[in-house]
Amino acid sequence: MEIGKKELDNFITCIRANSEYNLSEYSENSLIRRIEKVLLDYTTELNPLLSKMRVDKDFLEEVVKKITVNTTELFRDYKMWQDIRHLLLPKFKDNNELNVWHAGCSTGQEVYSHAILLHELNMLSKSCLYASDINIDVLAKARDGLYPYRHIEDYEDSFIKVVKDNPYGKTFKHTPFKKYFDVNNKKEHFQVNEFIRQEPNFFLNDLVKQENPYKIKFDIIFCRNVLIYFNTDLQKKVLEFFYDNLNDNGYLILGMQESVGWFMNSMFDKVDSFYKKRD
Ligand SMILES: C[S@@+](CC[C@H](N)C(=O)[O-])C[C@H]1O[C@@H](n2cnc3c(N)ncnc32)[C@H](O)[C@@H]1O
Repeated sequence: MEIGKKELDNFITCIRANSEYNLSEYSENSLIRRIEKVLLDYTTELNPLLSKMRVDKDFLEEVVKKITVNTTELFRDYKMWQDIRHLLLPKFKDNNELNVWHAGCSTGQEVYSHAILLHELNMLSKSCLYASDINIDVLAKARDGLYPYRHIEDYEDSFIKVVKDNPYGKTFKHTPFKKYFDVNNKKEHFQVNEFIRQEPNFFLNDLVKQENPYKIKFDIIFCRNVLIYFNTDLQKKVLEFFYDNLNDNGYLILGMQESVGWFMNSMFDKVDSFYKKRD
């Protein structure tokens, strides 16, 4: 079934009337694509789907979870992580503490990538990592840090590129992947080791509401590959919220296809691959 503007409005209205979620400022095109996929997955049409969502809260939750895109990986865009390691984290070397928020963390690979780098740089013990998502199921997976074995080759490849290779100088000594991951005997999955897994504070958080439950300011906020699903108005509100919740000289890290846009150029300076809060 093709979804037009009217069907999209009906879908958004149904969710708003029957839950806490507000998808009205998500990007229309990506929302339409996701709704069409949901209809195919359930082999149904929009009206029966909406009728079921109105009477069955669990079903509505399930649909919202299917609407969001959870794709992620360890050291995703490894060049960005090389820059985080060599250009960004050294700026915080002399700080007594480092507070970091990973907003839209999905199943946790991003926050564990960061924790591994902090450990390699002897900065993990002074760091507090917070990681949030709108989807409670991905947060449960993130807490487990348990990933399907089929990803291990790609993850190990990126791990070596970031932990051992060095585009800015001498290569580091080899660090075995198993220092941070444990592979189960049947080779079905591998898991982030306990000493790293215990670090992030995972919490449920909807960026649409712009709430910071910890009431602290952050030195770094990661929000990678989330803003692309929002329209310009919501992007602007979320970027202003991040600005307010960053320390002076704090940094925002976005995805490769994202930027702060013309509307926030006066509040952030682009420094290397990152956005530095302007005073
Ligand atoms: C594509 S994943 C990005 C994961 C990770 N940041 C990365 O770049 O690999 C997008 C994540 O944003 C989350 N998300 C979508 N809307 C959100 C919202 N309103 N508040 C918080 N998280 C949201 C989704 O549940 C999903 O896990």
